[in-house]
Amino acid sequence: MDTLTSFPIPVALNSRAETTFRFLAESTSVNFGGKVHGGALMKWIDETAYACAAMLWSGRYVVTVSVGNIRFRRPILVGNLVELRSRVVATGRTSMHIHISVHAGNLKVGELQQTTDCLMVLVAVDETGQPTPVPPFVPETEEEKHLAPSTRWTSRTRSMRLWS
Ligand SMILES: CC(C)(COP(=O)(O)OP(=O)(O)OC[C@H]1O[C@@H](n2cnc3c(N)ncnc32)[C@H](O)[C@@H]1OP(=O)(O)O)[C@@H](O)C(=O)NCCC(=O)NCCS
Repeated sequence: MDTLTSFPIPVALNSRAETTFRFLAESTSVNFGGKVHGGALMKWIDETAYACAAMLWSGRYVVTVSVGNIRFRRPILVGNLVELRSRVVATGRTSMHIHISVHAGNLKVGELQQTTDCLMVLVAVDETGQPTPVPPFVPETEEEKHLAPSTRWTSRTRSMRLWS
């Protein structure tokens, strides 16, 4: 049980571009419906994306510039094993596009199921808070090539006026 804590820690580094966090959902994260609070989940997503972009990919301090397309597919129950997989899917000059996929469940009764996914953009910044270059990500596998165009989605939505 020593690898399962309430604070997400990386347990598997498949490559420099991706990381996985696993932990148990504690009762301190419950919402009024008895499930894991969406805000708690978003905090875990943000922390996972930070680790991927700052510690694995760029080696720089990074800030979140955008969170897009978050989809809550299934609730997470208190006591579930929660797994957050984050990976770089594209880079710009200073930005890193990170896809985060959340899986959860009770391994005693079945496999983990995807509950949530989203796309975040994080930007590396220097000591003065100005954007600074990051290593380029070159998609190699078919799946990576499939995910890479997500950058076009964020570019499009940036220019959209969603409210007045
Ligand atoms: C992130 C920040 C430094 C960017 O500064 P800026 O003057 O807008 O810089 P730029 O216009 O050069 O943009 C920097 C990068 O962000 C990207 N970007 C800017 N707005 C974006 C958006 N809405 N969606 C996706 N990417 C965006 C740009 O495309 C650029 O990426 P690239 O260099 O790979 O092409 C600045 O906006 C900031 O400090 N924001 C606050 C961050 C914050 O507090 N986050 C919450 C806590 S971590």
